[in-house]
Amino acid sequence: MDETAPIRDFEKLLRETIGLSMETVGASVIRHALKRRMTACAIRDLHAYWAFLNGSPAERQELVDAVIVPETWFFRDREAFGAMVRHLRENRAGNRPLKLLSLPCSTGEEPYSIAMALLDAGFPDGSFQIDAIDVSSRNLVHAERAIYGKNSFRGADIAFRDRYFEACEDGFRPHDIVRRQVRFRLGNVLAAAAQSGADAYDVAFCRNLLIYFDRETQGAALARLRQMLADNGLLLVGPAESGLPMLHGFASVRYPHAFAFSKAEAAATKPSEPPPARKPRPAPMKASPLPQMQVAAPRPAPRPFLQKAAPTQPSAPAPDQAAANLAEIERAADAGRLTEVQAAAERHIAEFGPSPDAFYWLGLAHDAADAAEEAIRNYRKALYLAPHHQRALAQLRLLQQRLGDHGGAKALADRLDRLAKRSGT
Ligand SMILES: C[S@@+](CC[C@H](N)C(=O)[O-])C[C@H]1O[C@@H](n2cnc3c(N)ncnc32)[C@H](O)[C@@H]1O
Repeated sequence: MDETAPIRDFEKLLRETIGLSMETVGASVIRHALKRRMTACAIRDLHAYWAFLNGSPAERQELVDAVIVPETWFFRDREAFGAMVRHLRENRAGNRPLKLLSLPCSTGEEPYSIAMALLDAGFPDGSFQIDAIDVSSRNLVHAERAIYGKNSFRGADIAFRDRYFEACEDGFRPHDIVRRQVRFRLGNVLAAAAQSGADAYDVAFCRNLLIYFDRETQGAALARLRQMLADNGLLLVGPAESGLPMLHGFASVRYPHAFAFSKAEAAATKPSEPPPARKPRPAPMKASPLPQMQVAAPRPAPRPFLQKAAPTQPSAPAPDQAAANLAEIERAADAGRLTEVQAAAERHIAEFGPSPDAFYWLGLAHDAADAAEEAIRNYRKALYLAPHHQRALAQLRLLQQRLGDHGGAKALADRLDRLAKRSGT
């Protein structure tokens, strides 16, 4: 596949469609997704695929599905659910059903966890409603099917599984009482429409999405979330995103380790103007049952590449070879041959596609060469693909500390602590 201009068209399209920042995730992630989709469509030429993509909303959705990271599990960062319950108990006024949002909901573990936490806290069946939204139709199919394997149950405390799940052939399925609290919809945070009054959300979970956006898109997404949240609502973000809401009209609510923010306090402290929200695009990618949200569709008409790309040769993955190659890179790193590590990691990505370990080694090689920006970029790419990559978290933390970013380093240290506790190490 041609490495330069044509890929930029796909990058631009994905940035405009779902806000994905190439700076964060790296072009190799896109290249890999393109390879997979071209193989699936039996198209070998990048130009032909571009033309096909522009004429097919369904294929645009497939490409989005191929590029996103669905990583999630039940009760991920458990403290957030405790903060939600506390907030709702302290702020509930009247008897109207509570409204909660999980955006992005990925394969459903987060919204079902919200339902279980509320039922456990004594909120009766039907007294709340959870809207669960994601831009990936594939994830939503999984969420509605609601059958979960062991990867969805992590950490030491999974007692909730005995209370709320039944075993089935392929895993575990939440009971009816959990499933009926959640409505899944296809939607895009960047095209979410304003809501107010009774329609506004009492609590919004927007976790582990903003990290994949560039600054402008983070601002646009937070501006939308602010519009969708009730005046005394609570916003919950992921641990790596805790520095962002305060830049965009929110104030921190001090629930320990919950990364919780309130709009009301922010309003009282005169928020900075949120950056302009991205214009929702006219047509949805796929018919969505959600009236107020649409998946943004990219440009309507096909347009040619600036230059001709070489035909692509989609190749099958070779997991054993890839693992052996990574082990070799690790040996070179252990021996301190870091220039070699850099070249080998780059070759690895070109040959086997993006992998968290390869980006980690690349980050380490740049780190050793004092190329801090490149190092940070690569550690972040590793964390995009594997948010719990402990070595990438640890090295990024050390680097941020060295650069004087003590807030960022502390957030990563907390994340590592929580990981260690969860894994009992
Ligand atoms: C890492 S998962 C996070 C899931 C869950 N919130 C959690 O923290 O476990 C990221 C999800 O964001 C979704 N996503 C990516 N861009 C999006 C967008 N612009 N609007 C809505 N969802 C998006 C992806 O499809 C993916 O399911």
